[in-house]
Amino acid sequence: MLNWDEFHEDDTATAEVPEPRKVPEPQKAPQPATAPVTEPAVEAKEAVRESTGHYGVADHNRLARARQALEELDVAAGLEELEMGAARIQVDDKQMINARADLNQLVPFKYEWAWQKYLDGSANHWMPQEVNMNADIALWKSNDGLTADERRIVERSLGYFSTADSLVANNLVLALYRLITNPECRQYLLRQAFEEAIHTHAYQYCVESLGMDEGEVFNMYREVPSVAAKSAWSLKHTQSLARPDFHTGTVETDQELLRNLIAFYCVTEGIFFYCGFSQILSMGRRNKMTGVAEQFQYILRDESMHLNFGVDMINQIKIENPHLWTPEFQDEVTQMILEGTELEISYARDTMPRGVLGMNAAIMEEYLHFICNRRLAQIGLKEQFPGAQNPFPWMSEIIDLRKEKNFFETRVTEYQVGGALSWD
Ligand SMILES: [Fe+2]
Ligand SMILES: [Fe+2]
Repeated sequence: MLNWDEFHEDDTATAEVPEPRKVPEPQKAPQPATAPVTEPAVEAKEAVRESTGHYGVADHNRLARARQALEELDVAAGLEELEMGAARIQVDDKQMINARADLNQLVPFKYEWAWQKYLDGSANHWMPQEVNMNADIALWKSNDGLTADERRIVERSLGYFSTADSLVANNLVLALYRLITNPECRQYLLRQAFEEAIHTHAYQYCVESLGMDEGEVFNMYREVPSVAAKSAWSLKHTQSLARPDFHTGTVETDQELLRNLIAFYCVTEGIFFYCGFSQILSMGRRNKMTGVAEQFQYILRDESMHLNFGVDMINQIKIENPHLWTPEFQDEVTQMILEGTELEISYARDTMPRGVLGMNAAIMEEYLHFICNRRLAQIGLKEQFPGAQNPFPWMSEIIDLRKEKNFFETRVTEYQVGGALSWD
């Protein structure tokens, strides 16, 4: 926490640092051979001299040109694109997509849920280096600490996630951001983008701490089929929106935007993360790789907020644009969610050729069917696996709890502390 005393200390510190440099013998500054001084420049020079008082100006002409350029600045430029120009906006001017109101006026709020999630996300701030990795390093380097199947799970998880969060971040800033025409949602998107950077940092921090082969881990999304298939499926949804000539405003393009939101929030962050997360968290529950598991626990808390935000955005866009949610479109996005579920089941089979950590591919399949039902229901679509149960109720506890009780050996006692973490 910063306080005013620290500001005073900083002042003292900067005042002491620089030793005065030895001033070289004065030399005649080279004069330009022909530098005609124009009349206006002379006037400007005098004006500058008056305004600076007891200290000098290195180049009067340069400063005069800067002032001249500001005189000519067109303050209305950029605003005329907006239908309402520079007018003060009203709540009713705001829309999730295709709004023509000024996007720089954050208030008055229309979507309180978006602003609240921005506040909640910011209150959950954490950094990867705050997690102690010593026990993980010792376990990873010992010959008999983990089984081959457990090592495979750690490698595959870091392989998928180390690039998956980059894909999500790229989608946010290169494709989605400009198309969401609401400042309180954009405020959350900026927060989310930073959280994705922290997640990529966390995976990199795990890879580096464990001394893993970085080239191998960061290329799994291209080289390992079950990982590559998931990444490719997400990536194709960024590509169409990231084209500079893509604009919303027609049924086709507005639906394309919805496809992107469903592909990233409901499938990538809402399904593709769940096999790996439950595997690593199950490892942590067995007191193995507790540092990695703790990083994942923080990430899962962030991700469940990303997912909820995405669901709220999708549902709000549906409310404002009911003509987009046709039966054919509902059919299509139901299929997208089923495709995502199938890809995650393939990933589960690849990462668990045998039972491990009290799980196996068949139990994971039921879990993913349960998750698939949840994602469909959250955006108002029919469940496709009626009766599927959650075999991992402890996952819901982790996701739902704001404050952690007694979970891991090294545990966070207080989740929402806004800036710092406190440890047992
Ligand atoms: Fe993330
Ligand atoms: Fe995310």
